[in-house]
Amino acid sequence: MATPSEPAADLGLFDAVVNLCKRRGFVFPSAEIYGGIRSTYDYGPLGALMLRNIREAWWRAMIQERDDVVPLDAAILTNPKVWEASGHLATFTDPLVDCRKCKERWRADQIEDTCPNRGSNDLTEARPFNLMFKTFVGPVEDESAVAYLRPETAQGMFVNYLNIETTMRRKPPFGIAQIGRAFRNEITPGNFVFRTREFEMMELEFFVPPADSPRWQQYWCEERLSWYQRYGIAPEKLRLRPHEPEELSHYSSGTTDIEFAFPWGWGELEGIANRTDFDLRAHQDHSGTSLEHFDQATGERYLPHVVEPAAGATRTMMAFLLAAYDEDEIAGERRAVLRLHPKIAPYQVAVLPLSKKDTLSPLARDVLHRLQPHLMCEYDETQSIGRRYRRQDEIGTPFGVTVDFDSLEDQQVTVRERDSTEQTRLAIEDLVGHLLARLGA
Ligand code: GAP
Repeated sequence: MATPSEPAADLGLFDAVVNLCKRRGFVFPSAEIYGGIRSTYDYGPLGALMLRNIREAWWRAMIQERDDVVPLDAAILTNPKVWEASGHLATFTDPLVDCRKCKERWRADQIEDTCPNRGSNDLTEARPFNLMFKTFVGPVEDESAVAYLRPETAQGMFVNYLNIETTMRRKPPFGIAQIGRAFRNEITPGNFVFRTREFEMMELEFFVPPADSPRWQQYWCEERLSWYQRYGIAPEKLRLRPHEPEELSHYSSGTTDIEFAFPWGWGELEGIANRTDFDLRAHQDHSGTSLEHFDQATGERYLPHVVEPAAGATRTMMAFLLAAYDEDEIAGERRAVLRLHPKIAPYQVAVLPLSKKDTLSPLARDVLHRLQPHLMCEYDETQSIGRRYRRQDEIGTPFGVTVDFDSLEDQQVTVRERDSTEQTRLAIEDLVGHLLARLGA
């Protein structure tokens, strides 16, 4: 029996969501026609739309609705001295062991001295394996041309701290936020898009006077937890878990994870770390440029401390899908439905002419064109209306708009709501306002 703090394994749910992702165009194995490449995925049309909505929801909460955070879009390839200073070259490692029997490689901290393939204990000594992807900049492949793909977006924000403080006329407390791809040569990627070698991060570096960092860490834990709930994850599927001292990253004096009840147990969605002045001090020392803030009010100079809520966009997408997946029965027929928050769902509206007949198409397309400037819409006129409703339910579209033969006479359409399947008839003229109000847009 699972304890209250340990979710029951629900691998049926996991399989159902992975299957749906492939079947409905959310996530494909990368380069599938060549046999893929282990644990690398391409986000299909619906996945691309959903990821965009997740970024947008994060951006709204972290930047648009605040006056103390500014955005940044820093380079993925940067001067390798950044990674020397940040400690990633020396310490961003996982302990690697080889099984001498099957030759598979494992993370020593994940397998308890036994190879999961063969149950063999004939393993090599653990050795540190650096997770950064190495490449060469320019045509010559020698040591002077080595560069790394960023393993976190955070460092771009630290090395731009001074530029941003000056150009944006900011003083602590203020934050820099960034969304972007990060790369880690994970030894054991897996669990679908939970752990991949290329993934997307959404990170905030919040710079504060040193004494204020515990208060701000508490604040960001609460803010971020409520963000996941705001976009539809039930509170009982989320928890805050402070790190044990031995788990802490090399830069952190204290981290609390936001965890989600994944089908295999609790797993990290986001870490909220107190990075102290570790990074600014390291970059100040290595670059020789002072990164201290001068407080004009007190005449004090100090290196700000940093509280960092760091989330994974691709992992969050998986959590939203798992939390939204449901199966129920409508008029005696089983359906799968994604009860996604309307702002996260790939499409907000599907426009569905009752029949494919030419007589309905012009009006249905007119309805579509009225909605498109405001909402992401799909137009679908193939198959029976029942099957089209099921398809939209399964991809999480909150509203379907049906154009029927009466619509030609009365200029009205039927709006069907995904979760309740309730139908409302209303004038085409009022449709945009009606839907925007119901979507809270
Ligand atoms: N700058 C802090 C930092 O990088 P992290 O806990 O290593 O912290 C932050 O990463 C988040 O990025 C994680 O909580 C997770 O959501 C996501 N993440 C990390 N590694 C990942 C991977 N290999 N695949 C997918 N998401 C990952």
